[in-house]
Amino acid sequence: MSEERQKALFLRAQAEARKASWLFTAPNPRVGAIALQQGHVVGRGFHRVFGGPHAEEMALRDAGAWCEKSNQPLAGFVDEMMITLEPCCKSTATKKRRPCTDILLEAGVRKVTFGLNDPNDSQTGAAEKLNRAGVQVTTLREHRSFRHLNPAFFRDLTCVNRPWIFLKWASSLDGKMATSGGVSQWITGPEARQEVHQLRAISDAILIGKTTLIEDDPSLTARITPPSSKQPLRVLLDPPSTFPANAKILQGDAPRLWVLEDGPQKVGAWPIEDAVVRVPRLSGNLCLTTLVGKLATEFSVRRLMVEGGAKVHGSFLAEGLVDAIVRYEAPFLLGGPRCAVDGPSFSSPQDALHLVSEETAPLGRDVRRALCVPPTA
Ligand SMILES: NC(=O)c1ccc[n+]([C@@H]2O[C@H](COP(=O)([O-])OP(=O)(O)OC[C@H]3O[C@@H](n4cnc5c(N)ncnc54)[C@H](OP(=O)(O)O)[C@@H]3O)[C@@H](O)[C@H]2O)c1
Repeated sequence: MSEERQKALFLRAQAEARKASWLFTAPNPRVGAIALQQGHVVGRGFHRVFGGPHAEEMALRDAGAWCEKSNQPLAGFVDEMMITLEPCCKSTATKKRRPCTDILLEAGVRKVTFGLNDPNDSQTGAAEKLNRAGVQVTTLREHRSFRHLNPAFFRDLTCVNRPWIFLKWASSLDGKMATSGGVSQWITGPEARQEVHQLRAISDAILIGKTTLIEDDPSLTARITPPSSKQPLRVLLDPPSTFPANAKILQGDAPRLWVLEDGPQKVGAWPIEDAVVRVPRLSGNLCLTTLVGKLATEFSVRRLMVEGGAKVHGSFLAEGLVDAIVRYEAPFLLGGPRCAVDGPSFSSPQDALHLVSEETAPLGRDVRRALCVPPTA
């Protein structure tokens, strides 16, 4: 293949990757793929959501090289693949899909070109595996463009032994999450609230603080159509020991995890089979760094969604545990003191936490803004 043709195909694969939103793929990267048969493009695809099919599988499906019944690739329809990133090649305890190298081999692909080796050292190795099976592999070393495409992924690489964590809130145009009297339901319209359920469905866990649990009485379930096959773990920070009998958090099959202070403590009013985790209390607050470490290692949480309130947001930021922020903004002013983050303040706007890679989407009368904490912050 000429260099020019290779470049043109790679740009097409990148265009596929850009169809995804990093908010929905994180902590996975945005990846695009082009499938070819005898030099002709026959399929294209991208990784759309965390936990969903990877770009390679989507391109094979688009090329008709996939059997829906057996959920396996069909050989003979695709002989070459161009991908923005090295295909994944290992199975791990937290991984939700089969390795793409296996899928490519089963599809009979004989030539693979990818943008760069997986920057995650634990995931690289596809080139060797494919080479051993007789597949011709070319790496383009397109590092800069991939980095630009994947702010959330590069942020995740710096998070050792903890999930990728994002704060999500709904606020008025003046940044208030509730009225002065504490009423916050509902700030946003049905479209925004429906998208929040999708974000919940692809998160491994959702966390809220004590006051939000008491004041809002949330269910914290992902209510989408068709129904999600798995509900996220509901993580309740520093819960009160008693609940109204009809508290929504005690309903439904979605799992719960109660976060309590280290040491002997009486058991709360929740079902005996619920999981409990204990962490130290430091300066009055439960230690979130210890907690998120346990969520990763003991509960296999890779994507954690934090849904308030303001004090919990402030503590996650103060402990340097935030990778992205998602704000659903309603077009009205609420006034009053209830802002979205209650925590330490910066001494000047120059010193503030500057966010990058903004994605904006209109949702009915509201707007969703997602911003990433830079990988170096
Ligand atoms: N619009 C939205 O999207 C949205 C979302 C969520 C909540 N809200 C609103 O936010 C309000 C509640 O927010 P809030 O800031 O008052 O309370 P919160 O963040 O829900 O809970 C804070 C409380 O949790 C306990 N806690 C234990 N460890 C903590 C830690 N590491 N960091 C922070 N808190 C810790 C503390 O209890 P003690 O002080 O007893 O020790 C603290 O006062 C409600 O009015 C709710 O409606 C709005």
